[in-house]
Amino acid sequence: MSVMRSVLLAASDNRWMRRQAPRMGFVKKAVKRFMPGERVEDALAAAEALKTQGIATILTQLGENITELSEGDRVTAHYLDVLTRIEASGLDSCVSVKLTQLGLDFDKDKALSNVRTLAARANALGTRLWIDMEQRGYVDATLDIYRRVLSEHPNVGVALQAYLYRTPKDLASLIPLGGAVRLVKGAYREPADVAHPKKSDVDNAYVTLAKQMLSAEARTAGFVAVFGTHDQTIIRTLREHVDAAKVPRRSFEFAMLFGIRRAEQAALAEAGYAIRCLISYGDYWFPWYMRRLAERPANVLFVAKSMFSS
Ligand code: FDA
Repeated sequence: MSVMRSVLLAASDNRWMRRQAPRMGFVKKAVKRFMPGERVEDALAAAEALKTQGIATILTQLGENITELSEGDRVTAHYLDVLTRIEASGLDSCVSVKLTQLGLDFDKDKALSNVRTLAARANALGTRLWIDMEQRGYVDATLDIYRRVLSEHPNVGVALQAYLYRTPKDLASLIPLGGAVRLVKGAYREPADVAHPKKSDVDNAYVTLAKQMLSAEARTAGFVAVFGTHDQTIIRTLREHVDAAKVPRRSFEFAMLFGIRRAEQAALAEAGYAIRCLISYGDYWFPWYMRRLAERPANVLFVAKSMFSS
């Protein structure tokens, strides 16, 4: 792991930084590059604009570990409202949730029941409920909740992280269930005994897992593959693979984050691929923003520049 990535990920966990940094004007200004605004209305307006380019969306309210269980109910009510707004807008959009925001640290059954409530509503609206993957300590509980909800509502999906050594086994057990997996590289600071420390190993693991997600076995099981990455080399490799294997372009999806590789998102839509852009909103954006900076140290330069520009 590079020193810069390590420092930025450590900052994302630092309480003092979490409190102070969002108040600094230049940090606020820089974060705008990655999120259209703090309100759900800002996210919906951005989704409308992306729709005109043939890009579908995923909405997520930023926030992680809550401090009391009742907050999980508030977050669930918020997402129910967002689903209603999505329905009213006619957008091809869905929501992605973090289980720690729905109460996982306090009461796993309560988190499960919150996910059930959201999956039932998403199902009724004909959209999908996505579950993000968080740090390594949450993987077992997240997959357990995913499996249980999937057995009741087929429209739920979960993110898997290619950097974890355990993911090939997890993916192999999930594919026969159908459902949906969003494959990502992994955004957290994990030790070398659980996750590949070298970027090239993560990239290789990603491609191997992605090909399994596109296999005939996966398609027969009704499994939905989503590739959450901006990595041009990986995207090119997968495009060549699906062409060679005659996998229809709209039978899987690419997903990227708002503000990153905008031209590539439009180009994929133009070329007939299904592409979804994940739009974040909310006021608790500091740790999430630090993870975005850690993904590309050049972004730090961007923040530094915005300190000096008006
Ligand atoms: P990589 O980091 O190698 O980047 C490839 C290229 O993309 C870079 O060279 C750069 O050009 C561009 N790029 C990438 N990140 C950038 C940034 N922040 N700013 C500017 N350019 C950037 N993680 C997780 O642990 N759990 C989850 O649930 C999710 N969910 C999720 C959903 C979606 C839709 C996406 C796209 C990503 C996630 N992630 C995630 C984050 C993921 O794990 C990973 O950290 C980022 O996607 C960056 O990895 P890439 O695959 O883009 O490759």
